[in-house]
Amino acid sequence: MTCLSSFLAFSVLLLSVVAQSQYLLGLGIADITGPVVETNMMGYASLAQTDSGLHLRQRARAFIVGETAATANRIVFINADIAMGDTGIRRAILAQLAAKYGTLYTAQNVAISSTHQHSGVGGYLENLLPQVTSLGFVPQTYNAIVQGVVLAIDRAHASLAPGTLSVGNTSVTGGNLNRSPTAYLTNPAAERALYVNEGGDQDKIMSVLNFGPRGFLSFFPVHGTSLYENNTLVSSDNKGMAAYLYESSIEPTAMPGNQTFVAGFAQSNVGDTSPNTLGAFCESPGQPFDGMPCQANTSTCGGTTEDCHGRGPGFRLDSFGFHSNQMIAQVQVDGVKTILGKSLSSVTGTVRSVHVYLDMANHTFTLPNGTTAQTCPAALGFSFAGGTTDGPGSFDFTQGDNSSSQNPFWNIVKSFITPPPSAAQVACQAPKPILLNTGYASQPYPWSPSTVDIQMLKVGNFVMVVVPGELTTMAGRRLRNAVRAQLISSGIIDNSAYVVVAGPANTYAHYITTREEYAVQRYEGASTIFGPFTLEAYIQKYTSLVPFLANTPSGTPASDAAPPELTSSAISLQTGVVFDAAPIGKSFGQVLIDVANTAFHAGNTVVTQFVGANPRNNLRLEGTFLSVDQLVGGAWKTVKTDSHPSTIYQWTRTSTILGTSAVNISWTIESGTPAGTYRLRYFGDSKPLIGSISAFTGTSSNFTVS
Ligand SMILES: *[C@@H]1O[C@H](CO)[C@@H](O)[C@H](O)[C@H]1NC(C)=O
Ligand SMILES: *[C@@H]1O[C@H](CO)[C@@H](O)[C@H](O)[C@H]1NC(C)=O
Ligand SMILES: *[C@@H]1O[C@H](CO)[C@@H](O)[C@H](O)[C@H]1NC(C)=O
Ligand SMILES: *[C@@H]1O[C@H](CO)[C@@H](O)[C@H](O)[C@H]1NC(C)=O
Ligand SMILES: *[C@@H]1O[C@H](CO)[C@@H](O)[C@H](O)[C@H]1NC(C)=O
Ligand SMILES: *[C@@H]1O[C@H](CO)[C@@H](O)[C@H](O)[C@H]1NC(C)=O
Ligand SMILES: *[C@@H]1O[C@H](CO)[C@@H](O)[C@H](O)[C@H]1NC(C)=O
Ligand SMILES: *[C@@H]1O[C@H](CO)[C@@H](O)[C@H](O)[C@H]1NC(C)=O
Ligand SMILES: *[C@@H]1O[C@H](CO)[C@@H](O)[C@H](O)[C@H]1NC(C)=O
Repeated sequence: MTCLSSFLAFSVLLLSVVAQSQYLLGLGIADITGPVVETNMMGYASLAQTDSGLHLRQRARAFIVGETAATANRIVFINADIAMGDTGIRRAILAQLAAKYGTLYTAQNVAISSTHQHSGVGGYLENLLPQVTSLGFVPQTYNAIVQGVVLAIDRAHASLAPGTLSVGNTSVTGGNLNRSPTAYLTNPAAERALYVNEGGDQDKIMSVLNFGPRGFLSFFPVHGTSLYENNTLVSSDNKGMAAYLYESSIEPTAMPGNQTFVAGFAQSNVGDTSPNTLGAFCESPGQPFDGMPCQANTSTCGGTTEDCHGRGPGFRLDSFGFHSNQMIAQVQVDGVKTILGKSLSSVTGTVRSVHVYLDMANHTFTLPNGTTAQTCPAALGFSFAGGTTDGPGSFDFTQGDNSSSQNPFWNIVKSFITPPPSAAQVACQAPKPILLNTGYASQPYPWSPSTVDIQMLKVGNFVMVVVPGELTTMAGRRLRNAVRAQLISSGIIDNSAYVVVAGPANTYAHYITTREEYAVQRYEGASTIFGPFTLEAYIQKYTSLVPFLANTPSGTPASDAAPPELTSSAISLQTGVVFDAAPIGKSFGQVLIDVANTAFHAGNTVVTQFVGANPRNNLRLEGTFLSVDQLVGGAWKTVKTDSHPSTIYQWTRTSTILGTSAVNISWTIESGTPAGTYRLRYFGDSKPLIGSISAFTGTSSNFTVS
């Protein structure tokens, strides 16, 4: 190449950089579903919510953005169908990435964010408090998440190719409702007035980072509580459902999780949002207030929280929220389609990231007015035990209560709780009445995190503020605005700076309210664990890190020590599978109740019951526990798996002593299903008392759909 032609090529490159940046883009998806039976579900913290089967598999979706020339300038955003990020899984994921990729993917540039769904498998969090209802730590859940997230990153990495990014937004209606509106009203009227056109007490704006023909990453705040606390089928709630609906609309014949188009529905300032858009009502049969709206400022019915339940848009269509779930998912799908139908703004500029650890237990910092403020060691207030209208009255214990409970894990750990809070802690947390003084509870291992991850990812003029908790609507706006103002005033990004909040991510440090909301101590304020100045501390720390997102940052930021490793000392009470057996004279996979001998039509549900075995023997990650097969040209072709919402896998233990169980496979036939011959199959794995686990298959009779 001559000097002139290389100069010309360089100029062309430079011009195209100014017009629209080229990035290296990688997208990948993988299965992270833990044990779908005999395990507590994560989110509602209800001991009774033990899983009994599968509705939709949980997935992790990985998005990599890098500069085309400087490989080191790269970020990874994980959007996982889990309730919250966690220090332990993050540590394990980073260790595996370091072994594979050296210094390419690190604590600084990898964000593990959650969809904040409440129908996934529990037991994976490292701190003690979230383990109470899951009977401690469940290694199988943890391993499924760690392994699946790494696989999603491997796939995204293998798919790296040049491409461009763009950004846009729209207003979404009918997708969320504030579940603590009386707390929101405590924020200054002048501040609330700024947001009347953006949804008032909820952020109605959905933002999308568009990866062109390969996928997108959307941000919209709504709790993953469309499926109620009484559902025991593992699923991925409204954001996982939205991803399924979107991905299958692009590639309708690909099996779920095997599409190349990756639809990311990420969570944002979710703290006080609810998908129960009809509002909260008393379910109090026989009481005069039955069916009436709950008492507004306390969300109670007759003085207690137990009967006050939020209702989704599909309330009454089914008992567990499945219709509401699909409706809230569809609202989000439609929001993305609206945005992608508009002309979007190009994303341009460098790729940068910053990450530090911050010990929030007693963090002293300076407020904008010059006054010194301080956070406190973690504590949860009384309203925490009351729960929310999405899931009332979650914890069945109180501090200092030594009476025997239904929960064997609690019976072990309750004696470890520390004496009542000191006067200093009471003053620091005021006006919070302290229920659980978790910041002083470190036996047998810490109950709540004290050190959190503070992280920001910059992709050109688009910045993701990755937060270790659930910001309320107004708290999220304050943090977003402060970071954006700092980016602009420091000259790091011009007025095109576009800032979103993502989380709960990396570590789970519960809620973050404004100081005004904290003062009224609803559930979100009671769960703002580091005291009244929690939000101010985060705003100060995130804005102070903005200079490290500059094109040429000087130095590295000071960080507190990484949090201690707890996973290896975790208590685990879940017992393994002892053995499986088939009833006398029967074999695994044998049909117990066959499909009805009739012609089926769209809307009918086809069910087969099989001699089963415990699905904890093999999670069948990246696989399926069932298939719906169609006879096409004389050969069977799989048309549905266990991740189609029309199919359900249910497992029932029939005798613990004999080791027998039964499995139901069902398929509700979608409209538009081609007429023809079909069958249902069940894929299981049985464990003998002695010997190794082996796979088997069960098959229903053929049936016709007309
Ligand atoms: C929506 O996009 C427009 C145009 O980029 C921008 O001015 C506005 O601030 C965005 N809204 C939010 C809430 O981010
Ligand atoms: C996944 O998709 C690829 C093509 O993209 C195909 O070859 C493969 O068989 C599919 N796997 C499953 C399990 O459907
Ligand atoms: C809640 O509202 C009722 C009626 O408006 C009022 O009597 C009561 O004092 C309020 N309670 C609290 C805790 O604010
Ligand atoms: C499940 O919970 C919802 C919400 O509280 C309730 O409306 C419904 O009746 C419950 N379903 C069953 C079967 O108990
Ligand atoms: C918290 O920090 C303050 C100021 O540095 C100090 O006076 C106090 O003793 C600390 N408290 C704890 C519990 O560490
Ligand atoms: C600074 O702000 C804090 C929090 O609003 C307040 O408590 C304090 O009095 C203020 N200090 C001054 C000097 O105004
Ligand atoms: C609860 O049990 C622990 C350990 O047995 C004991 O130290 C503590 O004093 C008891 N608390 C109460 C309130 O009885
Ligand atoms: C399994 O299917 C059978 C046959 O339709 C039905 O009688 C039974 O109630 C189902 N079991 C569960 C747990 O749904
Ligand atoms: C189901 O259909 C297949 C393919 O035509 C056939 O081989 C098989 O015998 C049928 N099974 C039954 C039970 O009729």
